[in-house]
Amino acid sequence: MARTHIITGLDIGTSTIKALVVQKRGKELEVLAQSQIPSFGVRKGAVVNIDEVEKNVQALLSEVEKLSNKRISSVFINIGGSHLYITPSDGIISVSRANQKISQEDIDRVLQAVRAVNIPTNEEILNVFPKEFIINDQKGIKEPLGLTGVRLEVRALLLCVFSPYFINLTQAVLNTKVQINDIIPSPIAAASAVLTPQQKEIGVALIDIGAATTSLVVFEEGELIHFAVFPIGSSNITNDIAIGLRTEIGIAENIKKEHGSCLLAKNKKDKASQSRKKIEIFDKSSPLVFPKKLLVDIIEPRVSEIFDLINKELKKIGRQQLLPGGVVLTGGGAKLPKIKELAKQELKLPCEIGIPGRIMGLEEDPSLATVCGLVLEGSDFGEDNPSLSKGGFWAKVWAKIKKIFKNFIP
Ligand SMILES: Nc1ncnc2c1ncn2[C@@H]1O[C@H](COP(=O)(O)OP(=O)(O)OP(=O)(O)O)[C@@H](O)[C@H]1O
Ligand SMILES: [Mg+2]
Repeated sequence: MARTHIITGLDIGTSTIKALVVQKRGKELEVLAQSQIPSFGVRKGAVVNIDEVEKNVQALLSEVEKLSNKRISSVFINIGGSHLYITPSDGIISVSRANQKISQEDIDRVLQAVRAVNIPTNEEILNVFPKEFIINDQKGIKEPLGLTGVRLEVRALLLCVFSPYFINLTQAVLNTKVQINDIIPSPIAAASAVLTPQQKEIGVALIDIGAATTSLVVFEEGELIHFAVFPIGSSNITNDIAIGLRTEIGIAENIKKEHGSCLLAKNKKDKASQSRKKIEIFDKSSPLVFPKKLLVDIIEPRVSEIFDLINKELKKIGRQQLLPGGVVLTGGGAKLPKIKELAKQELKLPCEIGIPGRIMGLEEDPSLATVCGLVLEGSDFGEDNPSLSKGGFWAKVWAKIKKIFKNFIP
């Protein structure tokens, strides 16, 4: 009988903390529990108050433990925020074996060599994303293992984080007495939940619109080629509505979710009737009446501003209007009606809403992409990769956390 094990993902976001517990039996993933609670102590994706986050993580873990009837001892968590950035780096080594056959040890060494760059003292390299390997002078190699050569080079992207935020995040989770299996940048997790290998091969961008951050990742030939996080998200739309309609944030948030849209209808007749349509909100103090057009006129410029930032970023890497796999939108911000149409219009690329299709029952909700990605990344370990069950993988992550703690705390 296939062995089972439990995988838990914890997406610590600015507006909510989401947990997903799945049981893996063979290749099958069965959802045992999914829940979320409002988040406090996270500012623009970064943990700024350890105690608040610890309290919320503890409460959420207790809830999903009850729902799943399982004890949760380890979690896969995300890291978000505009302190995350990538920088290119190259590494080079001489192949060690006399027969010049490239071994896993050579690959590990070259990936270590790529980390030998100067970064500010309060930052750390979290991940290395190889773009291509070069053997002697042969470029564009994806799988160097077993090939022959005297010189092995790698071109990679280093993903760096601001150490204090990394420490706050890990501390808040470790204080709840669970182990951290791995820490995955939020849009990388979302991408593994919603992008197909074909899209990643031909060129695709994932845009995760969260509450306070918008993240962009671009893939081509199966590899990550760009990564950026902007400190602007769907809560900025809520703020604009509160100011534009002179109402409280809570009411503005409900208006956005219930009546919000990025565009009016296309055909003239529907557009005219939508423009005339009055929305009435019965607030406890006084009723609020406004035309639908006013709401769209508030929302559309802010969402266009987000796509404008994306366009500028795509231009930097020469991919503006040039991604055959198009763009895929995730995050709670992607639930806004007509956002797909506005994205197509602004980015001049095919666009779809990202649905975490590999996990049954959660396909409808793009805000669950990150947490789904965390468990999917987690499910790639385990049976296929015994290091997780033996604790080897955990030992590596733990060593990474300890190293960062040691570097940062005198
Ligand atoms: N139906 C909806 N229509 C419009 N916006 C929505 C809807 N549902 C949720 N949102 C918005 O999505 C945002 C929350 O998205 P998400 O859960 O992805 O953010 P987060 O992960 O907490 O934040 P971040 O990733 O920025 O740290 C909120 O601003 C919320 O208003
Ligand atoms: Mg998020």
